Amino acid sequence: MTADLFEPTVVGDLKVPNRLAMAPMTRNRADRRGRATAMMAAYYRQRATAGLIVSESIPISPMGVGYPYTPGLYEQDQMESWRAVTDAVHESGGRIFAQLQHCGRISHPSMLPGGAAPVAPSPIKPSGNAITYEGMREFVTPRALEADRIGEVVTEFSTAARLAAEAGFDGIEVHGANGYLLDQFLRDRTNRRSDRYGGSVENRMRLLEEVLDAVTRTWPTDRVGLRLSPDNSFNSISDSDPQRHFDHVLRRLSDRHRLAYLHLLEGDMGGGGGPVDYAALRRSYNGVYIANNGYDLDRARRAVRSGHADLVAFGAPFLANPDLVARYREGLPLNRPDSATFYQGGSTGYTDYPVYGTDRQGGTR
Ligand SMILES: Cc1cc2nc3c(=O)[nH]c(=O)nc-3n(C[C@H](O)[C@H](O)[C@H](O)COP(=O)(O)O)c2cc1C
Repeated sequence: MTADLFEPTVVGDLKVPNRLAMAPMTRNRADRRGRATAMMAAYYRQRATAGLIVSESIPISPMGVGYPYTPGLYEQDQMESWRAVTDAVHESGGRIFAQLQHCGRISHPSMLPGGAAPVAPSPIKPSGNAITYEGMREFVTPRALEADRIGEVVTEFSTAARLAAEAGFDGIEVHGANGYLLDQFLRDRTNRRSDRYGGSVENRMRLLEEVLDAVTRTWPTDRVGLRLSPDNSFNSISDSDPQRHFDHVLRRLSDRHRLAYLHLLEGDMGGGGGPVDYAALRRSYNGVYIANNGYDLDRARRAVRSGHADLVAFGAPFLANPDLVARYREGLPLNRPDSATFYQGGSTGYTDYPVYGTDRQGGTR
């Protein structure tokens, strides 16, 4: 059966009015204590016509923080601050999942409790720089998580999942992508462990499965999504055989975890195709599939019509076009994203992208 991008569908047990998701995007507009701000509520409200919004990455613990001004879900007042966001989205008829994240080695001691070294599966330093409150700082060699401390990370995911429910989110997305902690465990070039969390692909996905089992004690499985990025090199990460390893991961997820959806960042975020055949990989997954990375309207329509994707997530286009769904449906031109304001704080390049027919000050064109 062929479906169209603008037709409703079901994600888990949630009815969504269209198949355009807003991809998770870190925007660094929280306060310094990791609380969501009024400006964030306005930003998400503006984008509530998305079939599904996936929030920006939300650190699950003080050790999971990797960037300045990111909103957390490990303190009571952070949870309360998110209610204004979820209320705003719901009042405007939308749905929002919380993307739960532990940054692992993509962090810096200056942002971690007591100046601690970041944690990772193995002590392998990423190349490049961390973004800190004091500007760019070279990454440091992370501390390998001791096997008996891994349970604490699982508990932190589970606590954040409960706080997400209390904050009024419609579901959660476990962030297993983009070179952060769960991805560092999954991919074999960042995971050199010889215990039960390293070595075989079964072992490398053990932490991910423990997290999924833990969060699904709070949430029904059909309200839990997962994001993976098999060959995204972002955050200096790679795998020796992503096609074979992630094929195994996807089959096991299909068999063991009946999630709301699997959200795949296909290829490399910087553009350019890697070695992975995503059509083949998708066939190894039995469940709702959200495709992402560099999609435009035509490609998204083809992906949904062909059955490759159930939904398509848009990042930069949604950031720059609060009314992206209407613009695509009606064939209207798009605003261009301004990368200089992606992470800079303030309302410029955040809540001031106009809907079609108005200028940035809200006047009529
Ligand atoms: C400003 C910005 C922030 C992002 N932050 C996140 C994030 O917090 N979590 C995540 O999984 N991906 C993040 N991404 C990646 C996007 O979700 C998406 O995968 C990427 O932009 C490719 O989709 P697109 O081509 O539609 O923009 C971010 C991308 C951008 C542009």
